Amino acid sequence: MRMVDLIQKKRDGYAHTKEEIRFIIDGYTKDDIPDYQVSAWSMAVYFNDMNDDERAWLTEAIVNSGETIDLSAIEGVKVDKHSTGGVGDTTTLILAPLVASIGVPVAKMSGRGLGHTGGTIDKLESLKGFSVEITNDEFINLVNTNKVAVIGQTDNLTPADKKLYGLRDVTGTVNSIPLIASSIMSKKLAAGADAIVLDVKTGAGAFMKKLDQSKELAEAMVKIGNNLGRNTTAVISDMNQPLGFMIGNALEVKEAIDTLKGEGPDDLTELCYTLGSHMAVLAKKAETIEEARQMLKDAVESGAALEQFKLFIRSQGGDAEVVDHPEQLPTAKNVAEVTADQDGFVSEIIADEIGTAAMLLGAGRATKDSVIDLAVGIELHKKIGDHVQAGEVLASLHVNDAEVEPVIQKVKAAYTLTDNEVKAPQLIYDVIR
Ligand code: URA
Ligand code: CA
Repeated sequence: MRMVDLIQKKRDGYAHTKEEIRFIIDGYTKDDIPDYQVSAWSMAVYFNDMNDDERAWLTEAIVNSGETIDLSAIEGVKVDKHSTGGVGDTTTLILAPLVASIGVPVAKMSGRGLGHTGGTIDKLESLKGFSVEITNDEFINLVNTNKVAVIGQTDNLTPADKKLYGLRDVTGTVNSIPLIASSIMSKKLAAGADAIVLDVKTGAGAFMKKLDQSKELAEAMVKIGNNLGRNTTAVISDMNQPLGFMIGNALEVKEAIDTLKGEGPDDLTELCYTLGSHMAVLAKKAETIEEARQMLKDAVESGAALEQFKLFIRSQGGDAEVVDHPEQLPTAKNVAEVTADQDGFVSEIIADEIGTAAMLLGAGRATKDSVIDLAVGIELHKKIGDHVQAGEVLASLHVNDAEVEPVIQKVKAAYTLTDNEVKAPQLIYDVIR
């Protein structure tokens, strides 16, 4: 096979065979095929798309480019959750103990990553002593005994995706449904999931801004999952404003604790019940979504979900006292307030701008080597639809060493106030199974 022939084939709108896709992905992973040919091919895929078979084969080839995690020693259906990313998305911290408390095994591999705040691991490290540096055997034992554990990401999963994503980033080919869908799904499959719940964000702060694009991506991923033998459900949820009130690391841990106590923000709570009930159904812990939701609510009300969180923290070396005494979490030296200049209804909160503001305070990493400050971040007091009066606080900034004035201006500019009443945005737009 010659790569140039495969580029021309895709350029002319034909479909690849399974062998051709394997040839491209294996050759690229081994550096047998150069970047410039894969660039041209990615652009051909961008314009001419892939059919359902090609998408599944591509995903499979990317999974097989590296190590895969074997979770078969864990009892039950291992359901993983993935979010396409947003601002202030604390759902993993809440969902892991919440669904574990009703018996769904949660074997989570998590990363640090770049972004507005740290990843799930950074957030968990706000808990003194908590460690994800455990062996594979310890990880599997913990999930079998406690139903939940988190382990740090290995570097050896899906090397083809790392190369391809990096190349797409600089060749204008990120925004292609088959390439995005295979990229995301390959990582979940390589991490050993039997079933997958996807939280596909839509709106101004999301990767996919338009509902029809988000649906198309969700449908593509659900099909890939199902074609490769993994039951997959996608929930399409709102990212027109940050989720919940907190954007930061320790701040989001505090918000997760509140939510597990049944005292969290409405939108975050609702999204966790929705995603959690789909996870429980895929794990066969409940027959229907309604039954699953009731089980999750009961677990919050009885305190079982919170106890599960404590057990999870303790078993990975963390100090679970914090759950009853959240004031022991890292706190910033100063709090600065962002106030409204006029009366009105909040009609917009540009999520990306709030995210960037949190990063300027030190909550996230700009480069792989940046050191993040677990204590800093942003607490929103007003969300879309709320009424505010001039001088009222829109948001509080938790600050250590950053210069605060530009951040105050940025957060203020992220808010739009109007005279007319505004409805809060819908939270769940669709569910695709
Ligand atoms: N996230 C991914 O992991 N891959 C993509 O291609 C796009 C978003
Ligand atoms: Ca949040």
